[in-house]
Amino acid sequence: MIIIGRWTVGDSSHIFFAIVTNEIEQVALRAARAAGRIHLKRLSRINVNRKSNSIDLVTEADQESEAAILDVIHRAFPTHAFLGEETGATRHESDHRWIVDPLDGTTNFAHGYPQFCVSIAYEHKGHVQFGVVYDALKKETFTAHRGRGAHFNGKPMRVSTCDFLSAALLQTGFPYDRRERRRFYMYFWEAFMMRVQGVRRTGAAALDLCYVAAGRADGFWEFGLKPWDVAAGALIVEEARGRVTNMDGTPLDLAGGNILASNGRLHDQMIETLGEARPEAERRHATMLAEEAAAQSDPPRIAARAT
Ligand code: IPD
Ligand code: CA
Ligand code: CA
Repeated sequence: MIIIGRWTVGDSSHIFFAIVTNEIEQVALRAARAAGRIHLKRLSRINVNRKSNSIDLVTEADQESEAAILDVIHRAFPTHAFLGEETGATRHESDHRWIVDPLDGTTNFAHGYPQFCVSIAYEHKGHVQFGVVYDALKKETFTAHRGRGAHFNGKPMRVSTCDFLSAALLQTGFPYDRRERRRFYMYFWEAFMMRVQGVRRTGAAALDLCYVAAGRADGFWEFGLKPWDVAAGALIVEEARGRVTNMDGTPLDLAGGNILASNGRLHDQMIETLGEARPEAERRHATMLAEEAAAQSDPPRIAARAT
């Protein structure tokens, strides 16, 4: 049984903490590698099913890799709680919880587009302490321990030094209600497009966060993400000296569904842009709903006009 940071005799609390975090790290990395092997094995024969709607996909690789991760973690820490995208939350409570996206970037994976990963976070008493994001195809491992920095393939990693939005490369993504709320989401893209050098949408939020941490991109925003998408990546950005909050600058709520991550220097400029864009995004969404309702309630006249 593992209890973190409880020994207070002399220096021994530090030694104990180090041993425990080392074990957490080893188990997390072992679980991530197990998932990565399944991603690579399954990539050549993909079986796709649908989840909440026709664009929300799940493959055997999602399910198999979550089972493999659960197995590795459960063997090492049978009493820890688990929140996984595919299997949900374990019923029992524990101070120790693992938050897992076994395959982030499923749509990419299903199409053979090479941008996907596994994301594993370890949380103690509600605070993420360790995170790993592993891209098996590119052999890229992003890790962070709280208070001990972030690493890319074992080497220290830092966010970019970009100071101005006008010189920035940003990333975003769209949740699975993107068809129903398309005008809302697209307006934020439009607002940033007018201010930055480029905006990318590559389809794996955990990697988007790690790319901010690695200085490959300068910022990232997305609505509708879940704890398993962001738990590991958010810690990795913070430990790479970046900043992660809700879109209004308040402390990040992992389940809040509106994340903003940046190199820190651009954070306030991004908050400002998001805040300024929001009323128009909401107005466009409301207009779209009104148009759809009108079309629904008056189909014959619309049809007649179209002919
Ligand atoms: C998705 C990806 C994508 C993001 C979606 C997520 P999944 O996760 O991270 O980039 O835009 O909102 O749901 O379904 O591939 O694990
Ligand atoms: Ca995901
Ligand atoms: Ca997933």
